[in-house]
Amino acid sequence: MDATLLARRAILSLFLNPTVAGAAQRYGMKLGALRFIAGAERADAIAAVRRLNEKGIAATLDYLGESVTRPEEAEATVREYVELLGDIHRAGVDSNVSIKLTAMGLAIDADLALAGARRLVQEAARLGNFVRIDMEDTPWTDATLRIYRTLRAEGLDNVGVVIQAYLYRSEKDLEDLAALGANVRLCKGAYKEPPDRAFPDKAQVDANYLKLAARRLRSGLYTGFATHDERAIAFVKEEARRLGLGRDRFEFQMLYGIRGDLQEQLVREGYRVRVYVPYGTQWYPYFVRRLAERPANVAFVLRNILRG
Ligand code: FDA
Repeated sequence: MDATLLARRAILSLFLNPTVAGAAQRYGMKLGALRFIAGAERADAIAAVRRLNEKGIAATLDYLGESVTRPEEAEATVREYVELLGDIHRAGVDSNVSIKLTAMGLAIDADLALAGARRLVQEAARLGNFVRIDMEDTPWTDATLRIYRTLRAEGLDNVGVVIQAYLYRSEKDLEDLAALGANVRLCKGAYKEPPDRAFPDKAQVDANYLKLAARRLRSGLYTGFATHDERAIAFVKEEARRLGLGRDRFEFQMLYGIRGDLQEQLVREGYRVRVYVPYGTQWYPYFVRRLAERPANVAFVLRNILRG
């Protein structure tokens, strides 16, 4: 495994260790989480989306939370998203929503998560909106794809899924999804995965991203290219141009607080850009994944701690 991915794994292991996580969470958002998170409340999230929209950038809103263990928590997640879809509609902002199935009870019962996702996709359809199902770590890949397929088989089309280029299986998954005409977000993948499931070298992940991106562009199916990697972005632009693919057939997606300059530049060049905007109090695991993606971010956390 190469040094970048080793550093990433070390950060994920250290910061997700229950003792460190407990201490860090007590410290609160002072750690610097507000760089990546819009705030604790729905109103904070809508305000952040409005600011992005003013720059010509669309959003996808994520109510932070994952791995719930009690059905009441799953139900609370679904209720929050129903309210959120209503607020997006009332505010007239340009945003869809991103959901995590483990926040809707996938670890308790797949049918519970399916029922929650169905309710949200139906509510989004009623309001002319769209739901993206985020992809979590590999214990949930099959179940997530199954739920996506079930929703589509029920005739719900305003739903999309995510494929992670770091997994060996993704090429085949992408092929199967193309047969369904699926709307896919393509990302590299943010979790700690063993080398028998995910490419152990960052260069291999990067290369697979380009390979899968090329497949998606050739298919002409709508794709969200979720990356801040300038090489991958240049590749997508060039391939789309070569294929004569309209700029309305894909979008670039980035995370809130990361590469705002690049987001604005792409808008100026006439590309569609969507930013993933998380909010809520369950910010810690999301924050740790952002640290792991760029070990230099850990220095930024330490500076915040020293500043008190
Ligand atoms: P890479 O890691 O190669 O980074 C390229 C450059 O981007 C870096 O050099 C740096 O400049 C900048 N950068 C990247 N991460 C940064 C950070 N945390 N802080 C500061 N700068 C950073 N993953 C997943 O497993 N399931 C999912 O559903 C999603 N969903 C998702 C949605 C959207 C809109 C995005 C943008 C990303 C995701 N991801 C995700 C996360 C994704 O898998 C991946 O971990 C990150 O996007 C980082 O990878 P890059 O493609 O940016 O490349």
